[in-house]
Amino acid sequence: MVSHLTGGTLGRYNILESVGRGGMATVFRAFDSQLGRVVALKVMPSYRSAEPTFLERFRNEARAVAQLSHQNIVRVHDFGEDKGFTYLVMEYLTGGTIKDLLSRRLTLSETLSLLSPLADALDYAHANGIVHRDVKPSNIMLDSNGNPVLTDFGLARVMRGTESLTREGLVIWTAEYMSPEQALGRPVDRRSDIYSLGLVAYQMMLGRTPFKADTPHDTLMSHIHQPAPAPRTIDASVNPVLEAALLKALAKDPADRYRSASEMVRALGATDPLLASAFDVAIAETVSGPAPAGKPAEPGSEAPPAASLLSDRTIIQVTQQQARTLALQDARENADFYGKEMAGAEVALEETNKQLAGMGKLVQTRINRLHGDLCGVVSTEQTQLGATGTTNLRERYSGFLRELDKFLKQD
Ligand SMILES: Nc1ncnc2c1ncn2[C@@H]1O[C@H](COP(=O)(O)OP(=O)(O)OP(=O)(O)O)[C@@H](O)[C@H]1O
Ligand SMILES: [Mg+2]
Repeated sequence: MVSHLTGGTLGRYNILESVGRGGMATVFRAFDSQLGRVVALKVMPSYRSAEPTFLERFRNEARAVAQLSHQNIVRVHDFGEDKGFTYLVMEYLTGGTIKDLLSRRLTLSETLSLLSPLADALDYAHANGIVHRDVKPSNIMLDSNGNPVLTDFGLARVMRGTESLTREGLVIWTAEYMSPEQALGRPVDRRSDIYSLGLVAYQMMLGRTPFKADTPHDTLMSHIHQPAPAPRTIDASVNPVLEAALLKALAKDPADRYRSASEMVRALGATDPLLASAFDVAIAETVSGPAPAGKPAEPGSEAPPAASLLSDRTIIQVTQQQARTLALQDARENADFYGKEMAGAEVALEETNKQLAGMGKLVQTRINRLHGDLCGVVSTEQTQLGATGTTNLRERYSGFLRELDKFLKQD
């Protein structure tokens, strides 16, 4: 098809070698003779370049994506047309795709360190009005430092255009990671990307995607009609809270999913065994919804509650409330995602803070100790992970630690 391009040029780019081929294009390593750097050149098939509507969509999308500037989104340098081909010029990524990593199951910690920057990248693109539409392992590459980078933003829309989804060739390369609304040919928004990122998370932790039938058509039907197999039917040791978080990401109705990719990653992270061990409580208890109401020290009661009465249950409640406070603060920061629910969030935040203030000094002392333990665990993991892994980890915990600090300073 386009393999004969090797050794030749397109525009000012000398084509060095073919590095990969997907369902719609061929990617080459190329040399930008003007700027003197190696780039990736994605060359579309010539029959598509002959369609005026395709060209217009391609140019619009390339311009929009070139505006994105995020360290976890591939940089688009240029695009052009030459010798009957349309091509996109991108940053050349050397670490391969994460498809290669998924020959084995990843741990929660590995999953989160990949997903967290990707979620950030998606939320950033969504805030800029761009939906990826084709989030899948072959579109997640690694840079030379091992950081994940999303490629092919918006290209699915350009390539699929108005073509019917029933065309066999199109379905084959899209079905496994499509959202139900995509499978139905309905308009999609950022929640479709959240579903697809949920599929990637599922595959990372369970070693397989939830929907893979014998034919692309059946796979599409499963996305639309079948519930995703519960993770614990694949591996009985999966944490029930993690299971619930994955299944929420894969809800059929977009309204039932997480409202942002980061919210999804935070929910998966809430099941982090590190946190659980630091607080010495069962993971499920800390996050699986409100426990029976706590018993704050009542004003005017004769004696403060005895230390022996301060059960782990109380501690769990306090940490739950801390988690809620954090979630609500995040909600405030993401105001445009949350729209009208903000007013409710504000009220809930105030309530939470009132409850925390009423918790009394003994609880604070217990929390102080647990805070110390958590710091210990974090610094141990930081040492193990080395320089690159620590940034993510620090981000994950710093908000939580900040909140605890604030709480401990209250009298
Ligand atoms: N920016 C890049 N730098 C280096 N290699 C890349 C880059 N983008 C893509 N590749 C390589 O080219 C291969 C083909 O990419 P392409 O996007 O055409 O197909 P795909 O994503 O694998 O599949 P599909 O066409 O189904 O989306 C990738 O698997 C990857 O190995
Ligand atoms: Mg791709």
